[in-house]
This record gives sequence, structure tokens and C-alpha cells, in this order.
Amino acid sequence: MSSLDHLPAGYTLNEYRIESVLGAGGLGATYLATDINLNLKIALKEYLPVDCSARATDHAVHARTGPADGEAFDWGLRRFLDEARTLASFHHPNIVRVMRFFEANHTAYMVMECVEGQPLSTWMNDRRPLSQNDLLNIVDALAGGLAVIHKTAYLHRDIKPANIFMRTDDSPVLLDFGSAREIKGGDQEITAMVSPGYAPLEQYHAHGKQGPWTDLYALGGVMYWMITGTKPVEAAARIRQDVMTPARAQLSTGLYTAEVLDTIDWALKPHEDERPQSVADFMEKLGIAPPDPVSRRAMHVTAARTTQSDTQFVQTMPAQPLSFEPELLKRIEAAAALHIGPIAPVIVRNATRKATTVAALCERVAAEIEDEKARAAFLKKFEGIDQPQPLTTQPRSQPQAGAAVQTHTSAPTIAPELLKRTETELARQLGAIAAVVIKRAAAKARNEAELYLLIADEIQDPVEKKVYVRKAVLASKPR
Ligand SMILES: Nc1ncnc2c1ncn2[C@@H]1O[C@H](COP(=O)(O)OP(=O)(O)O)[C@@H](O)[C@H]1O
Ligand SMILES: [Mg+2]
Repeated sequence: MSSLDHLPAGYTLNEYRIESVLGAGGLGATYLATDINLNLKIALKEYLPVDCSARATDHAVHARTGPADGEAFDWGLRRFLDEARTLASFHHPNIVRVMRFFEANHTAYMVMECVEGQPLSTWMNDRRPLSQNDLLNIVDALAGGLAVIHKTAYLHRDIKPANIFMRTDDSPVLLDFGSAREIKGGDQEITAMVSPGYAPLEQYHAHGKQGPWTDLYALGGVMYWMITGTKPVEAAARIRQDVMTPARAQLSTGLYTAEVLDTIDWALKPHEDERPQSVADFMEKLGIAPPDPVSRRAMHVTAARTTQSDTQFVQTMPAQPLSFEPELLKRIEAAAALHIGPIAPVIVRNATRKATTVAALCERVAAEIEDEKARAAFLKKFEGIDQPQPLTTQPRSQPQAGAAVQTHTSAPTIAPELLKRTETELARQLGAIAAVVIKRAAAKARNEAELYLLIADEIQDPVEKKVYVRKAVLASKPR
């Protein structure tokens, strides 16, 4: 793709005026643009797969000529839109904020906050050697974002220094989701697009067992690069004989503890089963897992980020619901029950675990109401009560009196056979990540209905999602 194929400066698309090209990757171009209405700089990402599309003189993007191109283009376009939808639902200070997305010029666009700063790849230039404290602050923030992504059964798949943006306050932001996704052609052939050094072996082949450990390999790789200045040896070259110098060799510098260096080597194990399986495993080994959210906040989060970072604790730690007004929750439950029946309290409770505002909470509940009019009426009822809710989490040992939703830390109560069966079913849709989803859901759920709802939360496909919501409804009926 030549630079002629990019939108020119001054070109206007809806309310966005293109200023310049920020970057061009295999699947898209990212522009710096101005929102003319708000007079605000934004980043605009355009779906523009280099291998199967071209731009016409009217700026529209077309698939190239072959029928396989059309299919690959459409498939990728759907993924791009799915991606945008998912990203738009993430609210985390260390994940780039997607404000909206739209289709135009026969392709699709994602509108993102424009982050001021520079990519980690250049930020590091004059910062070596990096202190362990600085390293861990960055990794802690990124891992928090990653945990939020993994919770939705998504993987980033292209974590590397160029896709981590450092704000001017030195906090990191994860960019560029989905550019490492497999591109599927009509014949199911898969072309893996990987970033050598940061991509583990399972990303190189179609049947690779990908999961949170895949992103953790890349994050370990980024840490390796930050402390050694060299990226890890390409995964494929490490299989027969691992010639990579372990991070542990840096111990002699006296800059990093054995614990931290060993965690990097652990994340970078060639075999996926030998790596940390979740962000929580990884952070615990790094020694930055919080004893409780309050002390963790005091340790790592700057004042400006405190509020949003709390969301991270809620999302990464089981059963730490936000505090919503109990009376309001009762009203929401009652209104929802009119449409979805006795499952309403479970749905509402579940939504409190994820939503950070009343509006977001109602949106989540409304998503379960099938009838469009009923859904609109439900939302209307709670419109305007969107005063920000206190985003405080409570340490487990001191549940706040009057909290609407009690935390529970009791041992899992779901029969192991049921878990096994559900995992097998779920693996058909989610693959290897099903095991992780089930493990997390089982740790939180107090009964079968809650288990299914927690699973439903992790499924993107609306039809498949419904299957689990229905299971929850059935399980919640008195037998
Ligand atoms: N939201 C953003 N704010 C500021 N710069 C951005 C933003 N998104 C991307 N960029 C810049 O554009 C470059 C390319 O964007 P990226 O999303 O990584 O796409 P790709 O690597 O596929 O071209 C990034 O490395 C970064 O420098
Ligand atoms: Mg990129």
C-alpha cells in the first residue's frame, strides 16, 4: 500500500478532519484527526487491509479483484467492527478509549481518544537502565488493563513496545487491538500475523492453544526488552534448543530482584502450559498482587487515575462489587422483573460487578430484555439518575454496612461434574480460554444460575450469549 492510499490531510469524514497519518499497519491506518464539532484531537483508525484492498479515487475502499479478496475483506471488516464494539466497552485507564465507530467509504472507522505521548519503543531510549520500581509501575498498569481484556474472553495478541503508548505522565496505554488476529480466507486458511520476538509459538499456527498466557508471553517479552535492550529470540527459533539468555542473567546488574527476573523468564517459557496462566498468577509472582485493593492503590496509582483504577480492582478481583444505592437496585430489579422474570435480581447483581455508573448498570440489564419497546421503556425509567456512584471497593475483611451486594468469599459451591460438562460445552465456542472462564465464574458463582450468567458475560456472540442466559433462567426456577 502506498502513501497515496491513505486519506489526505484536510479530507473530512463526518465531523472528523484528517490531519496526518500516525501509523500504518497490516490491517489499517491510524490518522490524527480533529473532531470539528468539539474542536478536539482524536485518533481515527481505518480498516484497510493491505493484502486484499485498495482505495479508489473517490476514497472508497474496495476489495481487490479475486473472490477470495472479497471474502477476506468482509470477514476482516466484521472482525474490525466486533473489535471496536468490544473495545468501546472497556473502561480502563490503561486501555485506549474507543469513543465510537462507524462505517463509511465502504469500510469502517474507529474513533479513539488521542493519547499525548510517545510509544514505549522510543520512550525507553533515554531511560535505560530502568529502575525496578519504574518497570513494575508500568507493568502493573498494563497488567490491570490486560486483566480487563481477558475477563471478556478477548486477547490482545500483539503486545509489543510499539503498541504501548506512554502518556506524558509516564502511564502506559495499550493500543492496537486485533491487528494480530488471524486473517481467515474463504478456505479457512489462516495467515498468522505475528510480531517476531513478542509472539509465542502458539500464535504461529492455526491450532495453537491461545489464552491469557499468550498475552503474558508478550508482556514478559516487553519487560525483557525493557531491561536488556534486546527483544526475545523469536519463539520459533527457541523450540529445538533454547539459545535465549534468560532475564535472570541481569541479576548481576543489581538493578532487579531474582523474583522479578524469574517471573519474566516464567512468562517467556516456550511451552504455554509452563507459563503463568492468568494475569493474577503473573502479578502475584511479581510481588505486585495487592494484599487488598486499598494498599495497592496507595502503592501504585497516582491521584489522577485513582477513580478509574478502582474499576480495575473490581474487575480483576472476584466479588468486589461496587456500591450502588440498595433502594435504587431494588427498583431496577423490580422493573427488570416485569420483563425477564425471577432471574432479574441475579442479572442486576451481576451487572453491579461490572458497571461503574447507574446508566451502564441499566444498559447491562436492558441488554437482557428482548422486546425493543420494553427495553426502551425500562431505560427511560432510570434515565438521568446517572450521578456517579462512589467507586470505592472495600477490603474483603470489612464489608461496608449497607452495601447492596454482599461480597462472598465462601468456597465454590458448584458441583465439579457440572463445571466439567459446562467447560466442555463452552470450549466449543471459546477454545482453550473456556477453562479460564469457568474457573473464574466458579470462584464467584454461588449457584448454577449465577454460573451461567457469569459465563454469558464472557461471550461476545449475542446468540450464544442468550443460550447461557436461558440456562440461567431455567436454573433459577424452583424445581
Ligand atoms: N489513540 C492514539 N493516540 C495517539 N497515537 C496513536 C493512537 N493510536 C495509534 N497511535 C499511533 O499510531 C501508531 C499506529 O497505530 P496502531 O493502532 O498501533 O496501528 P498499526 O500498528 O496497525 O498501524 C501507534 O504506534 C501510535 O504511534
Ligand atoms: Mg501497532
